[in-house]
Amino acid sequence: MSDDFAQLWDGLAPLGRNRTTGGYRRYSWGAADTEARAWFAAAARDRGLAVETDRNGNLWAWWGEPGPGAVVTGSHLDSVPDGGAYDGPLGVVGGLAAIGELRRRGLRPRRPVAVAVFAEEEGARFGVPCLGSRLSTGAITPERAAGLTDGDGVTWSRAMERAGLDPERMGADRELLGRIGAFVELHIEQGRALACTGDPVGAASAVWPHGRWRLDFTGQADHAGTTRLADRSDPMLPFAAAVLEARRAAEVHGALATVGKVRVSPNGTNAVPSRVRAWLDARAGDEAALRAVVDAVDAAARDSAADHGVTVTGFLESASPLVEFDHGLRDRIAECAGGGRAPVPLLTTGAGHDAGVLATAVPAAMLFVRNPTGISHAPAESATAADCRAGVAALADVLADLSDA
Ligand code: GLV
Ligand code: MN
Ligand code: MN
Ligand code: MN
Repeated sequence: MSDDFAQLWDGLAPLGRNRTTGGYRRYSWGAADTEARAWFAAAARDRGLAVETDRNGNLWAWWGEPGPGAVVTGSHLDSVPDGGAYDGPLGVVGGLAAIGELRRRGLRPRRPVAVAVFAEEEGARFGVPCLGSRLSTGAITPERAAGLTDGDGVTWSRAMERAGLDPERMGADRELLGRIGAFVELHIEQGRALACTGDPVGAASAVWPHGRWRLDFTGQADHAGTTRLADRSDPMLPFAAAVLEARRAAEVHGALATVGKVRVSPNGTNAVPSRVRAWLDARAGDEAALRAVVDAVDAAARDSAADHGVTVTGFLESASPLVEFDHGLRDRIAECAGGGRAPVPLLTTGAGHDAGVLATAVPAAMLFVRNPTGISHAPAESATAADCRAGVAALADVLADLSDA
């Protein structure tokens, strides 16, 4: 493997990095995301790939004539607030570098090969993760996507328009899906499974069911120094009860539950709040455990809201069912990535990915690169240069195999 990966990486890495935190703030269609997308298009064109933007804002870089049976890799460039460097970019840069590697080996694929960059994978700006791939597969309607808003009330369709795209064209893309023979996403592992087994690379077997729920607690704003406790309708209290229940129920059901985003109005130190809006992220190995956690949080929020004279309304923002990756493809890439030794280990993950969404429509699979600390969705996310190279080499082997190179 040459230093192709390192060179590409150095071009992308500064874009959207916050100097104070070291984390990335690449929000869909914002300045840093736009710069990162432009970087990808330029890097792909430099390599002689043909770049196109699909009707849902996803980018495609083609090696060979776009057509049926294509072998597609790629990931995303948007980030969570103060995200790590690798979540998404590893699969995009890795895809370009893997194509470079196939060329260096003098291989000529019989099938078209493409690197895709999916829009709004994290849902950090508009709330629904994997929005680009959900639109392409029809997992979300264009009507619902169009009306999703960011924190400032800007809609997804307006943001697309500002980016020069036509939101009227959004929607399920049968023609595009019809071209994909297989999709393989390379991604940083977001846990410590590979660190524990001592393997640089693994393959995904399944993605846990997961989802996002919004809870709106509405009370009465009032003076912090004069309003008697008995006279308050304080939405912070049922909110706190819901957070504690999320943790308790997750422990009971062997699930994960997180409240990582909250908005308090009017957000003054010396005022009882009028409203608390909170987001619950819940994930579990099976649908029943997931449902049990969400129901428990909902019940705790309602009980406590009733005790405190607060109203609460819950909304499902996005649901992602259990995904089992195509067994044939999964085993083939695990063997191929093993490079003639034993197949690489199979891992299940609680993290959502475009590959999981695409798996409902086309054969899809994933490769993971070891993350020494397991930390992700944070600036401390890391991978060694050697493991990134191992991931790219494994991806190149897989692309060569699947494309009959
Ligand atoms: C996306 O990365 C998610 O799983 O939250
Ligand atoms: Mn992520
Ligand atoms: Mn990701
Ligand atoms: Mn993800």
